Amino acid sequence: MKILMVSPECAPFSKAGGLADMVSSLSKEFAADGCDVRIFTPLYSSVRGVTGLKKEMDNLSVHMGLGIEEFSSVWSARLGSAKVLFVEFNRYYDRPGIYNYGSVSYGDNGGRFSFLSRAALEYCLSVGWIPDVIHCHDWTVGLIPVYLNTTLRLSPLGRSATVFTIHNLQHQGIFDRGVLEYAGLPMSEFRADSCEAFGCLNMMKAGLYNCTKITTVSPTYSGEIKTPEFGCGLDGLLRFRAGDLIGILNGIDASEWNPSTDTLIAKNYGVANMGGKGACKKALQERMGLSRDASKPVFGVVSRLYDQKGLDLLARIAQPLVNNMDVQIALLGSGEKWLEDSFNALAAANPGRISVYIGYDNALAHMIEAGSDFFVMPSRFEPCGLNQMYSMAYGTLPIVRATGGLSDTVSQYEEGTGKGDGFVFSDATADALYNTIGWACSTWYDRPFDIDSLRRNGMVKDFSWGRSAEKYAKVYKWAVEARSAAF
Ligand code: ADP
Ligand code: GLC
Repeated sequence: MKILMVSPECAPFSKAGGLADMVSSLSKEFAADGCDVRIFTPLYSSVRGVTGLKKEMDNLSVHMGLGIEEFSSVWSARLGSAKVLFVEFNRYYDRPGIYNYGSVSYGDNGGRFSFLSRAALEYCLSVGWIPDVIHCHDWTVGLIPVYLNTTLRLSPLGRSATVFTIHNLQHQGIFDRGVLEYAGLPMSEFRADSCEAFGCLNMMKAGLYNCTKITTVSPTYSGEIKTPEFGCGLDGLLRFRAGDLIGILNGIDASEWNPSTDTLIAKNYGVANMGGKGACKKALQERMGLSRDASKPVFGVVSRLYDQKGLDLLARIAQPLVNNMDVQIALLGSGEKWLEDSFNALAAANPGRISVYIGYDNALAHMIEAGSDFFVMPSRFEPCGLNQMYSMAYGTLPIVRATGGLSDTVSQYEEGTGKGDGFVFSDATADALYNTIGWACSTWYDRPFDIDSLRRNGMVKDFSWGRSAEKYAKVYKWAVEARSAAF
């Protein structure tokens, strides 16, 4: 099978969040299985320094609307047995950020990502490589299914099926209608049952209306987005397309996230030999300037600091937590300035007890997963979430809100039996989080044998990509059959 992934992010080359991990892990999995997998993604300035980039083609001509023809180059690199294709177009991509500079979105994102979509298709046509499936990830590439249903329907690409994965419905790519014209798509598509929403072009909606099949990154999220509470205004459309929508849980990349082989942590350990975890806790306390005390429970956080993640709830209760329960908090993240400032202020007021690193640091993320006792994810919504799975693999107990992928991956602790692998609460309130952390603390001090069972239960859970990739293979087949039936 020939699979084209089109994505704004691809780990390890460019990453803003879990989407990057998902795209590269799934691609590696299919390529290892013998499929011809190519990932089409921008050459951001951060990718320029990657060693071993190969020039794949010069002068790829990309026809946009309004008679505009642009020329770009395509570079390539290997990712396992998959091939990553980087489109070089400096006017749009030679920038430090993927979507934004600091907290401000680039004003020309509509142009930048309609260009990415169009360039991916022109690449296929110009080299005569026609994928069976084009797998589109989130709003940035929502126009691809529209091209295939309109201007390119009669081209060789018209028969390719499109699978559209929703990683996060909150970001939809809403632009002026002029972007549709710039993209070279007919203005007749600017209607409520294709690309238009509230007088604007909505790229997420365009993709969801026009693609062959839709997936979400967890089963629970696929149900949630059909309700007004989680549908971000598109729940009606998702109910309309419910027959083509399925949720598949992301896996984790065991070559990156495995405590028995991880080279970024102080000492390796595994379920049969937990000795190294204590050394990892000590190393984390040292690295983050927390007081070195094995008896204090350490609560870790690695996250984007945005409303979705609910970490404002933690900021509100952090002071009473350290006062009343004598816990330690180790937080790594970046995002909204006010939240960064709140956590920095908490760290300044509680030396040795709260430590905060604002920024992005993969090695520190591994140290936190390995060295913490608990991991806090109070998300308001969570399409899948990877960190709770990393935590379980590292014997670090997740404390999560029951939503989306968190509900699908973490099983509630059952006091008295030691069943479960984490602590789950329902209400997105500071009180609920405070009480749940309190419950985790009482378990830590009063029922240490239960902590050991919960750790073991999480560590032996299977979060490998294999099972999820099998489900994607079925969706690809389903999409290919549906697309050919449409001709
Ligand atoms: P999302 O994609 O919504 O941010 P996920 O849990 O799916 O949430 O994925 C987040 C990914 O980004 C994980 O691999 C996590 O380790 C990583 N990550 C998030 N923030 C940071 C950070 N500040 N430093 C290092 N890694 C981070
Ligand atoms: C998004 C979601 C996150 C998910 C990731 C990978 O960033 O917010 O929950 O894990 O995509 O699919």
